[in-house]
Amino acid sequence: MPSPQARAAGLGEPLLTARGLVVGRTHGIPAAGPLDVDVRGGEVLGITGRNGAGKSTLALTLAGLLPAHGGEVTASATLVGDLRVRRGRVDDPFAWSSRALLTRIGTVLQDPEHQLLGRTVRGELEVGPRALGLPDAEIARRVDELLQRLRLTALAEANPYTLSGGQKRRLTVGAMLATRPRVMVLDEPTFGQDAVTWAEIVALVAEVRDDGAGVVVVTHDDAVLSALSARELPVAPADLGSQLRLDRPFGGETCPKSTVPPESRAAPSASEPCVGSTADGAKRRVDRPSGDENRPGRSVGPAFGAPPGAAPPGAAPSGAAPPGGTPGATS
Ligand SMILES: Nc1ncnc2c1ncn2[C@@H]1O[C@H](COP(=O)(O)OP(=O)(O)O)[C@@H](O)[C@H]1O
Ligand SMILES: [Mg+2]
Repeated sequence: MPSPQARAAGLGEPLLTARGLVVGRTHGIPAAGPLDVDVRGGEVLGITGRNGAGKSTLALTLAGLLPAHGGEVTASATLVGDLRVRRGRVDDPFAWSSRALLTRIGTVLQDPEHQLLGRTVRGELEVGPRALGLPDAEIARRVDELLQRLRLTALAEANPYTLSGGQKRRLTVGAMLATRPRVMVLDEPTFGQDAVTWAEIVALVAEVRDDGAGVVVVTHDDAVLSALSARELPVAPADLGSQLRLDRPFGGETCPKSTVPPESRAAPSASEPCVGSTADGAKRRVDRPSGDENRPGRSVGPAFGAPPGAAPPGAAPSGAAPPGGTPGATS
């Protein structure tokens, strides 16, 4: 159900619609589906299911980072705006460049370290707004506000890899919010977090929902679903014996595309890990900068990526993790 504020503002239109959606990581091997999904403005959709059910794969597919293996994901005209794509359907988020996604669909991956690339916390929050070409003053305004909102001001110059689990999680949520996407996809954002960070993340998600964003949250936590009045979408592994219509032939793994525009990327690591990629053709295609940003702003929002020279995963902590979160917070 859209929040009362969203209803009052006439929100609640589907921003993303999926019909007969089959998702997977390996061509020809469905992980979950077929599913019908609506992501509406002003509403939280809670994706639930047991480990390995395909929740993260579904989230990445709705986020435009993985291709549908069957069926379709369709973005509304409002979400598409004046975007143009060189190939594919303009209303298929997988056809959008990483840059086009920045203001349309933001993603917080299950493991924050898969998208932390900045040299500093401030740098991490600046990546998305810089990729959008926002003026310096606007970038500083957004970043300062997020630092304060996320209680990271004192850590603005710290290396993101030295943060605690809770701080890293807040940072990736903040980085997504910095570009103010209309749809936000968060994969287990509260998993392993202490009570303070849990409450902060839930409050942030409620805020962006009330501001009209369509929010998808993957979670095992009933308290999250209830605190956010989420509409639940239970996901079960695909029945491999059933007749699924697959639009992609068997063979090869599908790698998620990066959450960071190419010009902001120091290393090809700003996405979930992928072994034995055969999907690079698709990845290169969608990563091409499109130069067609357009979305009107909302008051809060998320982001991706990081500047060159970023610390590689594992190059982390020199023991300086400040209090406030639980290390190893995600799985
Ligand atoms: N990076 C990956 N490469 C290949 N297969 C994967 C990858 N990640 C997950 N899978 C497989 O895809 C299926 C769905 O996984 P996932 O979407 O991560 O489930 P959930 O998030 O519900 O735990 C599982 O069979 C899992 O083993
Ligand atoms: Mg998962």
